[in-house]
Amino acid sequence: MEILNTAAALHAYTENARRAGQRIGLVPTMGALHEGHLQLVRAAAQECEVVVTSIFVNPTQFNNPDDFRLYPRLPEEDAALLAPAGCTALFLPSVEEMYPQPTVVRFDFGALERVMEGEHRPGHFNGVATVVSKLFHLSRPHRAYFGQKDFQQVAIVRQLVLGLSFDLELVAFPTIREPDGLAMSSRNRRLSAEARALAPQLYQGLLLAKRLIEEGQLTPAEVQQTAAEFLRAEPAITLEYLAVVDAHTLQPLTDWQPNAPVAICLAAQLGGVRLIDNVVVAVNE
Ligand code: PAJ
Repeated sequence: MEILNTAAALHAYTENARRAGQRIGLVPTMGALHEGHLQLVRAAAQECEVVVTSIFVNPTQFNNPDDFRLYPRLPEEDAALLAPAGCTALFLPSVEEMYPQPTVVRFDFGALERVMEGEHRPGHFNGVATVVSKLFHLSRPHRAYFGQKDFQQVAIVRQLVLGLSFDLELVAFPTIREPDGLAMSSRNRRLSAEARALAPQLYQGLLLAKRLIEEGQLTPAEVQQTAAEFLRAEPAITLEYLAVVDAHTLQPLTDWQPNAPVAICLAAQLGGVRLIDNVVVAVNE
């Protein structure tokens, strides 16, 4: 596995592969890798001869300086996991390499970013779109791999690809969970033992909402309220939001629409660590 530290090296590596007729898969990450990331790398390796994984803790997408400072950084451990998963090149740039000068480009994704993560983390998706665009331009992948764990991020990147005519296929994979249901996340490493023990409750809250939707007795607002009350009953969990939304537009639902999938998304803090999770429910009427 090659280790590439500069934008120029990434560009040269992928252009070479392109000229040789090889397919390029890109897996953008911020490192502290786990099974959720590795499934993306393995899928890319099945479909592409060249698999680039980027590890870059992107400062422009953090709205909380402590979250950026404390984000786990484990490049050696990560590198050891990537090669066996089929990664052919690890792109590991510095902040100066990715942002030689402060970027003034601004994205506006309209209604899509005015809800949930976009609403609660001002500027977050601008930072995500900026760094993802840079990675797309530098590596010109045939396929780019993302996880449904970041449900709104997938929708934003889909808009980005359409809006800027990136010539690539966006591929999304389901959320990988710990055996107790907690969605795998690099930030889980920061949970205290107490917080880690409570964290699966988040998924329980989502499953409660899913069950209520499937039972079909409550309105979206009632489902939202019931699941939020369940989570707020645990004092160590600070729920930022729990939203019942249209899985395509991500807008809050006022009523169930026939055959339109619903997403239940949440963000919560546990002992100072912010976690997100979601489930998607098919509604058949
Ligand atoms: P990061 O949180 O490291 O996630 C990298 C990719 O792995 C994302 O597409 C994310 O959705 C996916 N992923 C994380 N946990 C997952 C899980 N439990 N199951 C399935 N997929 C999972 O998302 C980012 O980094 C950044 O915003 C990035 C896109 C790299 C831009 O900086």
